Amino acid sequence: MELYIDSANLDHIKHAASLGILTGVTTNPSLLAKEDPAVDVRDRILEIHNIVGGHCSVEVVATETDAMIAEADEILSWFPQATIKIPMIPAGLAATHQLAGRNIPVNMTLIFSATQALAANNAGARYVSIFLGRLDDIANSGIQVVRDTREIWERQGLDSKILAASLRHPMHLLEAAKAGAHISTTPYQVIMQSLKHPLTDNGLEKFLADYHKMQAEIAELRSELA
Ligand code: G3P
Repeated sequence: MELYIDSANLDHIKHAASLGILTGVTTNPSLLAKEDPAVDVRDRILEIHNIVGGHCSVEVVATETDAMIAEADEILSWFPQATIKIPMIPAGLAATHQLAGRNIPVNMTLIFSATQALAANNAGARYVSIFLGRLDDIANSGIQVVRDTREIWERQGLDSKILAASLRHPMHLLEAAKAGAHISTTPYQVIMQSLKHPLTDNGLEKFLADYHKMQAEIAELRSELA
């Protein structure tokens, strides 16, 4: 499963990218709104793209098909490798269909059911973003939607990428990988939590303590012999 970071925070993106574990980044209007409003959105997106280098999803805020296409073209004028994030509404399906006809990659977002994922795929989306955490928030099973979608994809031989989004904790990451998501887009804090294990920290502390003890003993022995 590929790992993307779900963020518009440059420090977080820089740090996660420096670890060599990311193949992409997804942003959305809410994530951008958390950052310094003095920085132009275009400049921020371009900097994010330059840091990560791989996939970069940028979301439109228009809600009518023609306006979505115009906004997609504006984003593509910033950098032609952009993946356009389009919301899963009827106008968004029509926009996705048109963009896909021009071979522009679309990440269809705000997907909460396997039938929505299927429609997104059929409209030509290259990525279908299923929001696990927000389904769990309303006592539905987000991971079950990923499992159902993966099962349909296998049976029907569909090739768009299943993207697990709205991840809230490392168990979501684990479950998404087990359910066969092709990609997970993960907040920085969840990425960092998923890398940490107390036995790794304790183990390293013990290795270093033993090494320094050995060095001290060697130094003592040498001074006795000198
Ligand atoms: O980028 C879309 C998605 O990951 C948002 O997550 O935590 O706002 O539900 P969240």
